[in-house]
Amino acid sequence: MASAPATPSVLVAGASGYTGALAARLVGRHPRFELSAVTSRSDAGRALSELYPHHRVDAVLEELDIERHGDVDAAIVAYPHGASAPVVAALREHGVRVVDLSADFRLRDRDTYAHWYGEHGAPDLFGCAIYGLSELYVEMLPDADLVANPGCFPIATLLALAPLARAGAIADVVVDVKSGVSGAGRAATARTHFVTVDENVVAYGVAGHRHAPEVDQELAVLGANVTATVQPHLLPIDQGELVSCYVTTTRAWEQAELDAVYEAWAAAHPFLEMCAAPPGVRDVRDTNICALHARADPRTGKVLVFSAIDNLWKGAASQAIQNLNLMFGYAETLGIEPR
Ligand SMILES: NC(=O)c1ccc[n+]([C@@H]2O[C@H](COP(=O)([O-])OP(=O)(O)OC[C@H]3O[C@@H](n4cnc5c(N)ncnc54)[C@H](OP(=O)(O)O)[C@@H]3O)[C@@H](O)[C@H]2O)c1
Repeated sequence: MASAPATPSVLVAGASGYTGALAARLVGRHPRFELSAVTSRSDAGRALSELYPHHRVDAVLEELDIERHGDVDAAIVAYPHGASAPVVAALREHGVRVVDLSADFRLRDRDTYAHWYGEHGAPDLFGCAIYGLSELYVEMLPDADLVANPGCFPIATLLALAPLARAGAIADVVVDVKSGVSGAGRAATARTHFVTVDENVVAYGVAGHRHAPEVDQELAVLGANVTATVQPHLLPIDQGELVSCYVTTTRAWEQAELDAVYEAWAAAHPFLEMCAAPPGVRDVRDTNICALHARADPRTGKVLVFSAIDNLWKGAASQAIQNLNLMFGYAETLGIEPR
């Protein structure tokens, strides 16, 4: 593990966006990181507190200048996929340790990446990142220089399914995702316009959401070689994500055995919380917590697992801080404590 400076400096690139702004707030308040700069193209010159008063970050957004801004210990890059890879590559050339929030470095198969996202913007770095789901990759993160923060659906899904996957218990799974509108980023579209979303629920990304191959990739690492059905729905809420997993198991599960496996999983990880009843998104709002509930259904023989996260926090920005903590040798909870 590289020896960490006393207070590592952290750049947040793309801080005018939803996840970048929150990342800037969390870095700025972190006891052992220093927020060195926040960047944006279209909002350069404006204070972040002007764009997002509730984050109370006074730093002024600047246009990214790699020569100047690259003189930092670490960076969180909160760009859209495609735009991220070249910036990540430039930061890595300056020796900056990077947590990338986009999808550019999550997949490890080039053909799969090309199928879902097209040409890669930094092919030499493809496959070099550690997948930044701290609960699964805790041992590899301290040595990581490039971390691919997972997608928000995969985070909730993999934390819900990891115990069953590791037990070889998943024959097939349907992942029913319900997501708040902030998951689509700051720019409004016809699909995310208030009038479209309010008092409505719709499915989207039918039979082809980009997070599905990421779920399959990581389930395979855990021991479940399945092609998951991943179906998102857009809810008329700003933040929050509920994932309901309907698992066809390889054998029958008693509730007591399920409880024991999940209690052990949650007990080993500070941000996992087992709930006596199915959790709601409000229960985890503005936290790095993933709330879980697992139930054996004797009628169908299936196992149902429910997982709630805040897409901007555990789904993105606070997950990035958890990763940075591990990369710099701190307790994974530092600055984002569950209680
Ligand atoms: N929102 C979520 O819940 C969530 C969860 C997990 C992961 N993610 C991922 O995290 C990344 C950021 O998401 P977000 O929701 O924060 O996005 P966002 O609100 O749209 O913000 C994107 C940021 O990137 C900057 N940017 C730089 N180059 C850009 C380009 N070529 N095109 C557009 N914007 C560019 C934007 O500012 P300027 O245009 O001013 O430069 C802005 O600061 C995405 O890759 C997303 O998939 C998001």
